[in-house]
Amino acid sequence: MSSAAAESGLLFGTALCISDLLSQPRTRAILRDCSIVTPEYELKWDAVYRNPGCPDYSAADDLASFASNNNLAIHGHTLWWHEAVPPALPTSPENQFQEAALNHLRETVTRYSGQLHSWDVVNEPLESADGRADGLRETCFLAAFGPDYIEIAFRQASLLDPGAVLVLNEMGLEYDSPAAERKRRQMLALLEREKTKGTPIACLGIQSHLTALEQPRRHPEFRAFLREVRALGLSVMITEMDVSDHLCPRNRSMRDTIVADTYRAYLDLVLEEAKVLAVSTWGLSDDRTWLNSFRPRSDGARQRSLLLDRAIRKKPAWHAVRGALLNKDKQEPGPGKAPQ
Ligand code: XIL
Repeated sequence: MSSAAAESGLLFGTALCISDLLSQPRTRAILRDCSIVTPEYELKWDAVYRNPGCPDYSAADDLASFASNNNLAIHGHTLWWHEAVPPALPTSPENQFQEAALNHLRETVTRYSGQLHSWDVVNEPLESADGRADGLRETCFLAAFGPDYIEIAFRQASLLDPGAVLVLNEMGLEYDSPAAERKRRQMLALLEREKTKGTPIACLGIQSHLTALEQPRRHPEFRAFLREVRALGLSVMITEMDVSDHLCPRNRSMRDTIVADTYRAYLDLVLEEAKVLAVSTWGLSDDRTWLNSFRPRSDGARQRSLLLDRAIRKKPAWHAVRGALLNKDKQEPGPGKAPQ
């Protein structure tokens, strides 16, 4: 898979966690298929600070060693995300939270400076249901720093790791609904505001948690959005792609075909319209999908949402993704090449 991606000038990878490396078949599949990996937990603020006041980067260091020993690029996930704040912090006085958030960002980016391909600097900044005109989500970061928290985070990260591709990562931009279209408009307005301020955002991360039988094959609004992102001079990373099959019939073969078709149609569209640096799935094999808890099937069957089955065998989805990567117009490797 990684060679198919490389032929089209981009990286292919997946989210992994340290326990994945205990499985030889899964490790072999990661080394066969991937050229970039994303720590699923190990670099999140609450994971590093499992013990209050005592940062533990050992698991992240182990993943970074695995990646560098195998010439895999690393996508850092994620510095500031409202869902991954150490539990004791959000209620603290604002200045204490500000200091803790900045210290964590500075310490973490400095520790891995020069080792990472890219960082999800800020994750999921938008939530129109919170009612703000700018669409920003009411998070502890917004409360502590104000709307400039995004600029603050990106400027700090850029200072401390000027070689990393800095990514603003968001969910739900790819969906087909009035709420998703509102979110796309708000994201474009946000990106334009930040660009005007000189905030060093280089890339838009599109999480791509898709739903089979809901994700449209033709998607003119999303296609237009991707063109506007490209016109802003931004590249794109598909950061967390998976296809939930919770709306599909139980029949395994039918599910696998529908899921594969969803992957193929989605990637064909994105690769046609965006300057894509990397495509990553959120896990490589079905036994690792978070969707069994996030999107459980009503019939109790386990999700078949990823590219490899529970026995680490290739599914139709694997071939569909590889076909999309090979189908892409050939292009010179982009700025997001893995650091040597
Ligand atoms: C998820 C993990 O996969 C789960 O295991 C965990 O319980 C919650 O976080 N968007 C993100 C990821 O940016 O960090 C989330 O990962 C999935 C949604």
